[in-house]
Amino acid sequence: MMIEQFKQDVLSGLSQTPKQIPSKYFYDKRGDELFVEIMNMPEYYLTRSEMEIFQKQSRDIISSFDVQKGEEIEVVELGAGDGTKTIHLLYELIRSRITFKYIPIDISSNALDGLEHRMKEEIPGLAIDSLHGDYFQMLHDLKKSPNRKIILFLGSSIGNMSDEEATLFIASLSKNLNKGDKIVLGVDLIKEKSVVLPAYDDAAGITRDFNLNLLERMNRELGADFDLDAFVHDPEYHESEGIAKSFLKSTKKQVVAIKSIGKQFVFDENERIHTEISRKYNDQILGKIIDQSPLSVQQCFTDQKNWFGDYIINRV
Ligand SMILES: C[S@@+](CC[C@H](N)C(=O)[O-])C[C@H]1O[C@@H](n2cnc3c(N)ncnc32)[C@H](O)[C@@H]1O
Repeated sequence: MMIEQFKQDVLSGLSQTPKQIPSKYFYDKRGDELFVEIMNMPEYYLTRSEMEIFQKQSRDIISSFDVQKGEEIEVVELGAGDGTKTIHLLYELIRSRITFKYIPIDISSNALDGLEHRMKEEIPGLAIDSLHGDYFQMLHDLKKSPNRKIILFLGSSIGNMSDEEATLFIASLSKNLNKGDKIVLGVDLIKEKSVVLPAYDDAAGITRDFNLNLLERMNRELGADFDLDAFVHDPEYHESEGIAKSFLKSTKKQVVAIKSIGKQFVFDENERIHTEISRKYNDQILGKIIDQSPLSVQQCFTDQKNWFGDYIINRV
């Protein structure tokens, strides 16, 4: 099922000009491992900044949920990854004696299995109900439960969408929320290139390996014959635009065959495959997206450097 979708997305993405591949395909087993390494790199300020918010302000974040005495809530995390920030929030919910169920959703079964194992070990007795799949497809299931939901969408994952996609995503998310539900939306804030670009172009070359792993994955899973020495990692960031972009650039004219798709793709010298965007936000950019939905921004928690923001958003 997943492999058919992968084939379709690769066929359609590499048939377009400019060529592109959806960033969700970064996350196979190797991709998950590399992303954990990325989060630990000195240049990758995003995780540290958001971690600081959850370590220092979880109590205030929980107050913003306005949980009533005796109320049970559901904490639904979209694209949960390794949950290292979320655990601080869960600990604080327990300390605050709030009854909750934790529902992480992730497309990577590997990430989800690891997360569930770790969470159960760290928080014995935790009510956890993991859902494996694409959160876009899981969204419609969310409305069923009568309990109020807190949707966590952290790590600036929304930044991997174009503004049009983010607007559609927020609109479809809000359709699956009930009045009183809330979203905690973690976004990277617009700042200067000297801070942003190294996060996508680190000295140790981990982001390069992460990007190139997409080609390796296609070789492995789709029978492609990408020559990894003939493509380079090519990131860029323009502060005025506020969007970091990653590309894989072909260093020569070449033809790549993908057996399982039964097609060949021609690459010119310096032709690029667009593999990822990372949108940086401010109040205005987020406001434009939220204004087109039945949601309103309640407040924003930021780290001390003001590099990262976790917005509390209400379904009104
Ligand atoms: C960049 S990581 C962020 C993880 C975590 N939210 C954090 O802040 O550290 C993105 C996670 O989302 C998952 N993911 C990406 N696209 C997804 C999708 N469409 N549906 C479900 N999970 C997805 C990936 O498997 C990965 O674990």
